[in-house]
Amino acid sequence: MTDLSWIDDEINQLKNDGRYIPIRILESSQGAHVRIEGREVLNMCSNNYLGLANNPEIKKAVVDAIEEYGVGAGAVRSIAGTMKIHEELEEKVASFKHMESALVYQGGLLANLGTIPVLVGKEDVIFSEELNHASIIDGMRLSSAKKYVYSHMSMDDLESKMKEHRKEGKRALVVTDGVFSMDGDIAPVKEIQELKDRYDTMFYVDDAHGEGVLGKNGRGIVDHFGLQGKVELEMGTFSKALGSMGGFVAGSHKLIDLLRQRARPFLFSSALNPGDVAGVMKSIEIMERDDSLVKKLWDNAQFLQKGFRDRGFRLTTTKTPITPVVIGEEKKTLELSNYLYKNEGIFASPIVFPTVARGLARIRVMPSAVHSREDLSRTLDAFERGTKALNIH
Ligand SMILES: Cc1ncc(COP(=O)(O)O)c(C=O)c1O
Repeated sequence: MTDLSWIDDEINQLKNDGRYIPIRILESSQGAHVRIEGREVLNMCSNNYLGLANNPEIKKAVVDAIEEYGVGAGAVRSIAGTMKIHEELEEKVASFKHMESALVYQGGLLANLGTIPVLVGKEDVIFSEELNHASIIDGMRLSSAKKYVYSHMSMDDLESKMKEHRKEGKRALVVTDGVFSMDGDIAPVKEIQELKDRYDTMFYVDDAHGEGVLGKNGRGIVDHFGLQGKVELEMGTFSKALGSMGGFVAGSHKLIDLLRQRARPFLFSSALNPGDVAGVMKSIEIMERDDSLVKKLWDNAQFLQKGFRDRGFRLTTTKTPITPVVIGEEKKTLELSNYLYKNEGIFASPIVFPTVARGLARIRVMPSAVHSREDLSRTLDAFERGTKALNIH
């Protein structure tokens, strides 16, 4: 047999570095409270922003769609997997986003992997934000375009890179997370839009953490900045605020038409299941008719973040409900997360290198619309007790 001892070495290294993450297994549906290891715990780390992952109306829509269309799409979209509800969802997403057209993928990660290599290739250039999500980075790698990374939030750096390198590519693309998932701050989309026009560059924004959070009724980052029609492509996921599964890009008719011919997850991976498609349509319907969940999410986030700041905790410069409590050292962060879980019944995962820079490990606390004030106060008290017990300053 081939020697596989390198695997033990790698795992031991992760353990020694405090980067071996315990995977907790949920034994209940997703929500403010979940069951893990037979015990109910307070869930403070999901992306289920609006609580839609277990919404009865959505569950019914999923069951009805399964009754009508079955559980699987049976093929890739371009062969026999495109069902009427895929088309309906695409129209719904385009209208929700105020874009001409949309293409649905099987996930947000696949939307990035599939779309970016269609927009740019080896004769082109990409300007990419330093803190972009891993799926954007992988999408860029697959494109083979030349990549220039600009510093986090620095429009001076972006402009100087565009000035120096734009002409190296036939086509150019600037790509950024809308909301930075590990910090919660918001990209200066208006300024990027002005620069991209000046330097003849396409603009692609990943709105995974903006949907259901920013803009009118949670329409997302482009709506938040009032830039409809000025950003070539808005990408998003259905797996966070929308509570389900899948991803999309929205843009002009001709861009989406080209993606249908060229995007590899559309051509080479089976279509999103009909149940998921129907669930997402219902989520959008709920968001369109009522913004109370979005409001509740923000109320909860403000209460929680004020509570942490008042108690002297170090948060990032978050501007959204994402509430990263920066601890610093990787091992201490894991210890605090374990303390919260074991002693306080609070599920709050640690985020360590390489997801964030070394020495900036954190616990990313995620309030949602379905948390009560009592849940949030309990979290604040538990963090205070935990950091005291573990001597974390
Ligand atoms: C910014 C960003 N983009 C893309 C994704 C991928 O989305 P999905 O989970 O739907 O694959 C995520 C989720 O982790 C994300 O945070």
